[in-house]
Amino acid sequence: MTNPQTAAYDPLARLLHWLVFLLLAVQFGVAWTMPDVGRDTRPEGLIAWHLSIGTLILLVIVLRLLWRLSNPAPPPPATVPPWLQSLSHLVHFLLYAILLLLPLMGWGNASSRGWDVTLFGVLPLPRLLAQGSHFGHALGDIHGVTATILLIVSGVHVLAALYHQFIVKDRTLARMLPLPGKAD
Ligand code: HEM
Ligand code: HEM
Repeated sequence: MTNPQTAAYDPLARLLHWLVFLLLAVQFGVAWTMPDVGRDTRPEGLIAWHLSIGTLILLVIVLRLLWRLSNPAPPPPATVPPWLQSLSHLVHFLLYAILLLLPLMGWGNASSRGWDVTLFGVLPLPRLLAQGSHFGHALGDIHGVTATILLIVSGVHVLAALYHQFIVKDRTLARMLPLPGKAD
């Protein structure tokens, strides 16, 4: 019988949480290093890596969402007030929504440039929008702005985790650590 005080996310949810964290760190590193994308840019080198890593993130997020929908989160520590639970649900919902929309926007922009998107050359993805699509071109800028919004919302999320760990000193962080129980 699970003790609600010590309940943690299941191992796959924890694995996928930290896998997405690592993939995002690499993806931002690549995005900030790759050449500026313009009219005559070809999807080569770091840009090709950006498209493939982004596609992998999209795949992992879809899996993670499907897993999450069939595996509810464990009950929060009893000390967390209802308003804070609602706020954390809102932030988590926002993170999932952005993580799903951001790669789709990038994919739409790549399609409008006439670029073929594949998962590391193995799994070709269909065109999401027609080549030359105005909407697809606009998505390029929106994709960049949305990536910045993701950084801000993630920052709030990380600050909340640190607040729980070092100020409230409850077991919130332990619920999501790769090895739960180590944070006591
Ligand atoms: C969660 C995953 C992703 C993140 C965090 C991300 C992040 C970023 C960032 C920060 C930029 C701006 C780079 C700069 O101008 O300094 C960018 C640009 C771009 N990304 Fe992504 N990206 C992701 C997924 C994808 C995917 C899946 C694709 C395509 C399949 C893609 C295609 C592009 C393209 C084409 C640009 C250039 C857009 C333009 O300047 O018009 N991205 N991305
Ligand atoms: C140092 C970095 C991070 C720490 C310490 C951290 C910590 C946590 C913790 C403790 C939880 C469980 C919250 C609860 O039980 O109410 C959680 C959940 C979550 N985290 Fe993070 N996180 C980090 C980075 C990220 C990043 C970068 C993302 C994505 C952009 C992210 C997305 C999520 C989502 C969507 C959930 C909700 C899980 C669910 O209920 O389905 N986290 N995180």
